[in-house]
Amino acid sequence: MTTSTLFAPLTLASGEVIKNRFLKPAMSEVMGDKSHRPTQQLINLYRHWAEGGTGLLITGNVMIDSNALGEVGNVVIEDESNLGWLRTWAEAGQQNGAQIWVQLNHPGKQSPRNVSQHPVAPSAVPMAGANSFAFNDPRELTINEIHEIVRKFVRSAEIVKKAGFNGVEIHAAHGYLLNQFLSPHDNRRSDEYGGNLTNRMRILVEIYEGMREAVGDDFSIGVKINSTDFSEDGFSEADSLTVIKQLSELGVDLIEISGGNYENPEMIKTTGGAFFVNYAAKVKAQIATPIAVTGGFKTAAGMNAAVADGATEMVGTARVLALVPDLPMQIRSGQFQSIDLDFLSTGIKSLDGKIGSMIGLSYYEMQMARIATGKSVRRTTNAWIPLSFSLRKQGLSILIPQRN
Ligand SMILES: Cc1cc2nc3c(=O)[nH]c(=O)nc-3n(C[C@H](O)[C@H](O)[C@H](O)COP(=O)(O)O)c2cc1C
Repeated sequence: MTTSTLFAPLTLASGEVIKNRFLKPAMSEVMGDKSHRPTQQLINLYRHWAEGGTGLLITGNVMIDSNALGEVGNVVIEDESNLGWLRTWAEAGQQNGAQIWVQLNHPGKQSPRNVSQHPVAPSAVPMAGANSFAFNDPRELTINEIHEIVRKFVRSAEIVKKAGFNGVEIHAAHGYLLNQFLSPHDNRRSDEYGGNLTNRMRILVEIYEGMREAVGDDFSIGVKINSTDFSEDGFSEADSLTVIKQLSELGVDLIEISGGNYENPEMIKTTGGAFFVNYAAKVKAQIATPIAVTGGFKTAAGMNAAVADGATEMVGTARVLALVPDLPMQIRSGQFQSIDLDFLSTGIKSLDGKIGSMIGLSYYEMQMARIATGKSVRRTTNAWIPLSFSLRKQGLSILIPQRN
């Protein structure tokens, strides 16, 4: 089988060249320290991934405001106080010709109780679903607060550029604040930030345009966006296509396609093939901007076909890269053909049902911590192993699920 398509370089509108088609999507590493600074562990992890041959590394979500965290252990970029650490992180992720972008995020109402007493959202629509107990009800943002959030995203992007990273990715997927604005279910506003789709995408467009003005044309800006929220009154495929076309016209460098949120965690299913490839192909037929599709890739043949068949320019593999950090090198040498993701169990069916997604996330956090400390990946189906890792690291706050 040839996999040469995966090793062709890709030039973005910014002029940056990504050496191959492998994308390490954002995976929250929870390796920030108490002051939300990147730690040496986090830096080691990215050096390791860069050395493994991936062309584009996107960091786990970094928050734009220390008062709006998605979880304990988030890195925050809101001023220049950690510039030295950020520079070291950027350099580590640029080894071996790799690029590193920072994913910038605001969680909105998906900010759990252990970090947010009073989360904010476009409208005061509480979380629903199995995980809702973990979240306090949000309150509606004022217009001034929305403007302040736009300024904070832009400021963070400026600092990311100053620290030497190659780009930023705006997180508008997985049910976080910008996805909440896009979704008619979460956004019930009647001002210029709610109602029709032009209004619902306004905050995202303002953030993109503000960033572009601040960082210039030669710095890469990507957007991660859902194909759909998988709920009847949420952000639909038709909406998604319209937003993507608009972003493309505005000059975004890369669009990463995913789907789901905390209420419908479709993006971290363990079974099934590449989840969003068909949608990606539909998008690609309509825009010139390069796209990346993330979710469910497990075979070298499937990754190659997605690019070779023209469904996408880049292939994002998150969990596989936490198990096989040198995946691109292993594909190049023919060593990697396919992998099955582990289905972990506590041995108690009802408990698995309740905390299944948390078990999965703990498992990949454990692998990232092992890679960062020079240990080999530890495959298991025993859920108590990652759970005890997370309990040791974070105490009982791990019982607050989950992140995507
Ligand atoms: C431990 C973990 C943390 C994640 N954190 C983020 C995140 O910070 N931002 C994001 O956009 N997606 C995050 N995701 C979702 C992944 O980027 C990706 O969309 C998802 O895992 C599906 O891709 P895969 O099938 O290749 O794993 C996370 C996934 C995992 C497993």
